[in-house]
Amino acid sequence: MENISDKILKIRSEYGDKALVKEDLNPDPIKQFESWLENAIEIEASEPNAMAISTVDSQNNPRSRYVLFKNIVNDSLVFHSHYESAKAKEIENNPNVSGLFFWPEIYRQIRFEGVVSKASREVSDEYFKSRPRGGQISAWASDQSEEIEDREILEQKIKELEKEFEGKEIPRPKFWGGYLIDIHYWEFWQGRKNRTHDRFSYSKVDTEWKTVRLSP
Ligand SMILES: Cc1cc2nc3c(=O)[nH]c(=O)nc-3n(C[C@H](O)[C@H](O)[C@H](O)COP(=O)(O)O)c2cc1C
Repeated sequence: MENISDKILKIRSEYGDKALVKEDLNPDPIKQFESWLENAIEIEASEPNAMAISTVDSQNNPRSRYVLFKNIVNDSLVFHSHYESAKAKEIENNPNVSGLFFWPEIYRQIRFEGVVSKASREVSDEYFKSRPRGGQISAWASDQSEEIEDREILEQKIKELEKEFEGKEIPRPKFWGGYLIDIHYWEFWQGRKNRTHDRFSYSKVDTEWKTVRLSP
């Protein structure tokens, strides 16, 4: 049987050859991000708003997971999660995060680094209200990141909550809400032929963004 490294040797995708030049970049990286995300949505990229977020725990052990980007508030990227989850504790201990978007269909990656804070009650409530009831109940039911003996326990809890909230509006749990990522470093990567990609970074210098081309 062919081993995994032989299989991988046969994978040799080329990453298109769409040029990315400095003149095409918006001087505001949030606008540039929006424009790339819009492109990804237009071409129906898979899970276009999925972003990987990396935190560090109290032992400086780096930890990554995907979350869904949901909004831009005060020029910060918003995602929603459990406020007592592992990631929440890590953010409390060290609010510095890095993150990624990857849209393989258009050979684009965005990297960012920033500082996380909790979103306002209004931002969290507004999004929670927009969630389907199933997602609202699931937020109540899950002690995110805690060990759980059996899936049955979770399903039982969901049944009880469905009864409890029957015919009622489901309030947002206090332990669940939004986070804002205030980004001070962005990197936009456009895959190109022969691994000779285009890559630009934006760094915040005082209040201005400095954009430079990086070697791929
Ligand atoms: C595509 C995708 C999107 C996800 N979106 C979210 C999200 O928006 N919020 C969230 O708390 N977890 C989300 N998750 C689950 C997280 O990756 C993770 O398992 C969970 O938040 C627990 O992480 P933690 O133990 O590091 O806190 C998503 C997972 C995937 C694969």
